[in-house]
Amino acid sequence: MSEILTTQSGSILTLSFNRPAKMNALTRAMYASLAKGLNDAAGDFGIRAVILTSEGDHFTAGNDIVDFMDNPPTSDSSEVAQFLAALLNFPKPLIGAVKGNAVGVGTTMLLHCDVVVAAPSANFSMPFASLGLVPEAGSSFLFPALVGYQRAAKIFFTGESFGADAALEMGLIAEIDSDALAGATKIAQHIAEQPPQAIINTKALLKARNHESVAAVMKAEFEIFAMALQSDEAMEAFMKFMAKKGKS
Ligand code: COA
Repeated sequence: MSEILTTQSGSILTLSFNRPAKMNALTRAMYASLAKGLNDAAGDFGIRAVILTSEGDHFTAGNDIVDFMDNPPTSDSSEVAQFLAALLNFPKPLIGAVKGNAVGVGTTMLLHCDVVVAAPSANFSMPFASLGLVPEAGSSFLFPALVGYQRAAKIFFTGESFGADAALEMGLIAEIDSDALAGATKIAQHIAEQPPQAIINTKALLKARNHESVAAVMKAEFEIFAMALQSDEAMEAFMKFMAKKGKS
């Protein structure tokens, strides 16, 4: 069974993380499938909106830590960099449906979604500094722009998590729905009924102001992130996670 489930219903494509036994932690192969899914959907006239969601009780525990240790992404041709580029450049509406934990990239990818629906169980966190890493996916620019410098710095520096109500108040999500996927699907269907070129043009206008800045920030973040991955601080944090799980 694929670890990214791809389903199409009418003109709506759903990409679902499907590795629930590992809390949907994202591997290089999963990033590659996600990048391909988004890039194919961008060029497919039959698709008018994409939903990003998950199987099981959680959205994703972020990047797979074993993968971080065994195959650290060090170049901008890596699968994660391709996924982030595909997210940044995706021209059609991208709808997030989140439940449970959304850790690391599980939260930062939402900054690129146009509409996010979260279940009351959603729990967001970006513990990059706690792991000896730095924010990625443009989040060092997009998150303070959304919530203000003070709040962003506190969340990044402490690694603290926050729930659906706080995310709604911040504007990270658009709605709370007890069935996030059903809510997201309803919104995607509504969007898919609209004139498609007008929707694409509207998204391009909404994103235009920040696009170049986000691309530049992502590149800078990636360079520091790749160095940080090799640092003693990161190795220590990863070994701690592995030891906790009795795998070291
Ligand atoms: N990479 C690899 N495996 C992961 C993972 C990750 N990021 N997150 C969770 N898993 C695995 C666990 O190892 C465990 O697998 P196992 O049963 O084979 O041991 C399974 O998913 C369930 O996770 P578990 O830690 O038992 O759940 P929990 O409810 O006790 O804790 C978290 C949930 C999210 C707090 C905890 O899993 C965690 O801290 N994960 C790492 C998150 C992270 O730092 N991500 C990187 C961000 S850049």
